[in-house]
Amino acid sequence: MDKMKTSEEKQIIVCGSNSQMLKAEALLRRAQISTDLVPTPSHLGSICSTSILIGKNDSAAVEDHIGGTDISYRIYDYQTKKLSGLMKTLMNQGVRQSFLKIMEKLEAGEELSKDEIVRLLDTQSEREEEVLLAAADRMRREIVGDRVEIRAAIEFSNYCKKNCHYCGIRKSCATPKRYRMTADEILAQVHEIHQLGIKTVILQSGEDDYYNTERLIDLIRRIKQETAMAITLSIGERSYEEYRALKRAGANNYLLKIETTNPKVFKSLHPDDDLKERMECTRWLKELGYVTASGNMVGLPGQSLEDIAQDIIFFKEMGIHMIGIGPFVPAKGTPLEQAETGNIDLTLRTVAVTRLVCKNVYLPATTALASADPEGQVKALKAGANTIMLISTPLKYRESYQLYSNKNMINIQSAIDAVKGAGRLLPKYLKWRNEQ
Ligand code: 5AD
Ligand code: SF4
Repeated sequence: MDKMKTSEEKQIIVCGSNSQMLKAEALLRRAQISTDLVPTPSHLGSICSTSILIGKNDSAAVEDHIGGTDISYRIYDYQTKKLSGLMKTLMNQGVRQSFLKIMEKLEAGEELSKDEIVRLLDTQSEREEEVLLAAADRMRREIVGDRVEIRAAIEFSNYCKKNCHYCGIRKSCATPKRYRMTADEILAQVHEIHQLGIKTVILQSGEDDYYNTERLIDLIRRIKQETAMAITLSIGERSYEEYRALKRAGANNYLLKIETTNPKVFKSLHPDDDLKERMECTRWLKELGYVTASGNMVGLPGQSLEDIAQDIIFFKEMGIHMIGIGPFVPAKGTPLEQAETGNIDLTLRTVAVTRLVCKNVYLPATTALASADPEGQVKALKAGANTIMLISTPLKYRESYQLYSNKNMINIQSAIDAVKGAGRLLPKYLKWRNEQ
């Protein structure tokens, strides 16, 4: 199936519920109609937070395939966002010409070059930094509105056959007590998340061969039967056939971070991996119709601003839907335990530039940011981020899933505090009454 061309005129289908949206998307894909899933633009309502993008030329075919079904939906024209009025607010703000020029391009809806992205990341003046984060915050508000999407992750196994140098659960790291949750234990957590009204569960683990295709398919089917929630898998590199089988069983989203697009830095961190293969996996996931999540770490040893700019271009060119950006945080007991934590301000600028360049995407305020800075999530939410992932791993296992040291445990209360602290709105689907 052809990828939708970026220049093509587009329309957006907004459905009556999350499960209707997933059903509509599956029907359209089966009919070979090119689709993409994007956060629902705020002016089109807040019932279903994800909507389906189609080429305008396909709208008649779309009506043919979902028109006669029980799916409720509406189709709207879709335009890429420009930041109109931005320059007016920037007059006399004490920012340099080179910076203003880039903002002018953003206002006109033009794409930025790699050098221009580097220039934004490299901002040295406090004033420019403020303006950059505010522009991203405005872009976020205009596109996805003030509601923060909340998802929940279950870290179901910390066994891993790989030895990524930065990671606290790498195979050779003796620190974590190894655990593997049973399907029943996982389901019990899924039900807790479901009762909170949350729509998406993320199943994350190390690269653990015990959880093979067959076991994962059983798990996916049970979750679908019992809750109909959207499922994100985050279980590393697998074969094309395996990704396909998991998709067919009902998995919707896949989180596989690129970590860095610099081949040398990638190689130096991943003794078991190859950057080209990681990219190939990402391409397969797109091709198979997964909603894809990627991301990088900021402040890796040997990483330059050009590398980070290239990461952002990669996310944009690949059409990644969710982009998790976090600082590198050294983990005890790993080869990088003495390395320095990534710079928080640079991480926030990376979040902001990613919002400005990639526009209609989910940008999480990551756990790594919350771990490196207690205010990290609030700051990210004010710099373009619009998503929070809760950690819903049972208490007795959480301690053992320390990808990096002092990992912050984002629970529902801390997520709500971050949303409120940033002056934002909770999603309507959340069934949580805060009595305190
Ligand atoms: N610092 C920051 N992020 C890390 N991750 C793993 N180890 C670290 C670390 N030391 C992130 C990676 C990985 C995800 C599961 O956790 O981005 O993809
Ligand atoms: Fe394993 Fe993932 Fe950690 Fe690498 S980053 S060691 S693949 S859990």
